[in-house]
Amino acid sequence: MTQIPTPAPYLDRFESLAYGLFVHWGLYSQVGQGEWYKKWHNVPMESYRELVKDFTAEAFNAQALAQFAKRCGMKYICLTTRHHDGFSLYDTRGLNTYDAPHSPAGRDLISEFVVACRSEGIVPFFYHTTLDWSRDTETCDDAAFAKYIDYLVASVEILCTQYGEIGGLWFDGNWSRPGADWQEDRLYRMIRTHQPEAIIVNNSSINALGAKGHPMLDVITYEQGRPEPMDRSGMSKYVAAEMCQTMNLHWGIGSRDFMYKSPAEVITDLAACRRVGANYLLNIGPTAGGRIPPYEQACLERAGDWVKLMESALYDTRPVACGCEGRDFILRHKETGKLYYFAHDLPITNNDHKTKEAGSHEGPRRITGLDVPSSARWLDTGEEMDITPEGDGFQLDCKGYPYGSNLVVRVAEIQ
Ligand code: GLC
Repeated sequence: MTQIPTPAPYLDRFESLAYGLFVHWGLYSQVGQGEWYKKWHNVPMESYRELVKDFTAEAFNAQALAQFAKRCGMKYICLTTRHHDGFSLYDTRGLNTYDAPHSPAGRDLISEFVVACRSEGIVPFFYHTTLDWSRDTETCDDAAFAKYIDYLVASVEILCTQYGEIGGLWFDGNWSRPGADWQEDRLYRMIRTHQPEAIIVNNSSINALGAKGHPMLDVITYEQGRPEPMDRSGMSKYVAAEMCQTMNLHWGIGSRDFMYKSPAEVITDLAACRRVGANYLLNIGPTAGGRIPPYEQACLERAGDWVKLMESALYDTRPVACGCEGRDFILRHKETGKLYYFAHDLPITNNDHKTKEAGSHEGPRRITGLDVPSSARWLDTGEEMDITPEGDGFQLDCKGYPYGSNLVVRVAEIQ
């Protein structure tokens, strides 16, 4: 029989974090046309660097950011310490002066970030680019590229040694120079010597969802794609999964991007991630000054109200192999052993003449491959549900929402 590896304790803890806030913020935020503004508008580096002069970080309040994530039910924040433009929010300590402390902000924003996260019980993660437009990493020759890797490793070493224990490092950009010698071994070994339990991620990119990269990586990524059920049989080490997604179609603020997600989509996507045991890392792009934009704030807080209702089902739970109808699924709590049934497409009862809800239906739903439980109740109302044994499983009578509510995804606790 093929072996299925079990997660190392630090990976298990990562999976229990379940829901995190991604934050893309940097020089590009001042323009408000996305984080790829420099590249897609062909802005020469010299003019782009002029943006440093106005980088004041006047509205960046790390404490408020950490409190916001907590209110939304998120357990970790991954902040862009350096994005593709090469500008660092941390003090590069002599590597260069293209960083926040040498800008009008005059502060090490990463230092503020880690302190605030810890005080709110939020785990800090660092996004760090590997490609760098300020160093021409896409086009430079191999010798220059090797020098750049020295610089990259020295940069990341600062992050691993100057800010205490961190949750992990989230790399992004190896896809920009395929086949190049990124010296991943060297980078990851350096991280391990300073941060033995940090999660190491390297975004496989939107074009290679779920691809497994270097053996030292801890997580496979699904950038803006639905995570698939994971088959870990035969893997030498357990790897976790994470889907990252942004609120509209840009990661850095796009002032004219109106293509926003709704709280219902956030809830559905969070559920889709948990269904396969993946984490959901949802991005916001703060304003030039560093403030959380009002729509993102309202939307994530609204979704956070749902998270609070379903909290016992979300964090320390893992997928259960069984058969469910449609998008429904079941998770098991690691400690209590309780099962949680996630029901989709329920209507509002007594709603015939009010609003139409295409595709929704109430009534019994089949679950196969599980013993018949003794009781089931909706988490939101506490109302008991009828259970009828059937075949190698049972039926759960899924009533619609009481008039006045619609939770998008409704969760029942089964014992
Ligand atoms: C992509 C983009 C980048 C963004 C990242 C987030 O790789 O290049 O701008 O930071 O996705 O996942």
